[in-house]
Amino acid sequence: MHTTLLGDGLQTSALGFGGMAVTHVYGGTDDAAALSVLNAAVDAGITFIDTADVYGEPLPGADGPAGTNERLVGRLLADRRDEVTVATKFGITARIGVDVDPTAKRSRGDAEYVRQACDASLERLGIDVIDLWYMHRRDPDVPIEETVGAMAEMVAAGKVRHLGLSEVTAAELIAAQSIHPIAAVQSEWSLWSRDVEAQVVPACAELGVGFVPYSPLGRGFLTGTLTREQIAGDIRGATERIGDNWDANQSALAVVAGVAQRLGATNAQVALAWLYAAGRRAGLPVVPIPGTRSVSRLSENAAAVDLLLDDEAVAALDTVADLARGTRNIVGDPTWISSGRE
Ligand SMILES: NC(=O)c1ccc[n+]([C@@H]2O[C@H](COP(=O)([O-])OP(=O)(O)OC[C@H]3O[C@@H](n4cnc5c(N)ncnc54)[C@H](OP(=O)(O)O)[C@@H]3O)[C@@H](O)[C@H]2O)c1
Repeated sequence: MHTTLLGDGLQTSALGFGGMAVTHVYGGTDDAAALSVLNAAVDAGITFIDTADVYGEPLPGADGPAGTNERLVGRLLADRRDEVTVATKFGITARIGVDVDPTAKRSRGDAEYVRQACDASLERLGIDVIDLWYMHRRDPDVPIEETVGAMAEMVAAGKVRHLGLSEVTAAELIAAQSIHPIAAVQSEWSLWSRDVEAQVVPACAELGVGFVPYSPLGRGFLTGTLTREQIAGDIRGATERIGDNWDANQSALAVVAGVAQRLGATNAQVALAWLYAAGRRAGLPVVPIPGTRSVSRLSENAAAVDLLLDDEAVAALDTVADLARGTRNIVGDPTWISSGRE
């Protein structure tokens, strides 16, 4: 697989792997199967592996972020550190769909927490330096300059190579970039989640920051392979888009399926290829990170890096977002995602 240059000189595989998929979230899997998928990703050239301290199930009696996903990725890194560009995140302190207290503080970005979070991630990953370290969510009670300043200290200490930010507004990105170069913004961007194109994507293009679209397959919905039974058992069943508007959103899905059928590709490949096209149109490097528990789907997704969409396909796919019903936000608080603070 070819590579892509994000911001701040960070080079990654053209497609990344969304590691959240291999611990409990949309079904989950066992550790052996998870490690097979992680190894298969690296074998397929998908060497940019995305995790976060908050992903996975908390260990019994443990305090703080779950960390089990990072520990699994750590088992991959124990064997293959030199082959992998590892990205992790800190800052979410209440797990979505698990912590029931709606008043709990959902994010932390104070300098003391940032320092602790870095050391904890390094320990769980079993490595000396994190290649790309993201602020997962902005702490509304802390100036972003303080959070990024503390992150920059970790770079100076040799514990982190590059910095990233997730779900930031353009203004927050500009403020952060004044403290330290930002390699990538990771936010939701896909056929049906295009709010970032208004301000965040142009700001990234202007500042030379790369974009890492998360949930590039619409948490699986856009692939056309999900069933209602499947989503009823995980957090997707409780979302507006996939749960409440399952029927209404079939027309958006039909457009993706129509393009895929005409091109002899799969929905997943078309959804990923559209993101590359959207990145070229906006003038910035884009590295999507689809997640899967399946080795065969990994290969399918990897093939998307070579799928070039014709103008007719892009025009049809550009209509999908207008057909989609329901917010992309899976939390009741509108400020949880960047467009809610713009
Ligand atoms: N920064 C953030 O706040 C944030 C938020 C969400 C996610 N993320 C990151 O982004 C990554 C990807 O997002 P996501 O997992 O939410 O959604 P996604 O990648 O859009 O979709 C994942 C779902 O699609 C299915 N899938 C994958 N490839 C497929 C294929 N070729 N055909 C059919 N189904 C396929 C997977 O099911 P199977 O496992 O059954 O194949 C899984 O349920 C996460 O793993 C995580 O690392 C970050």
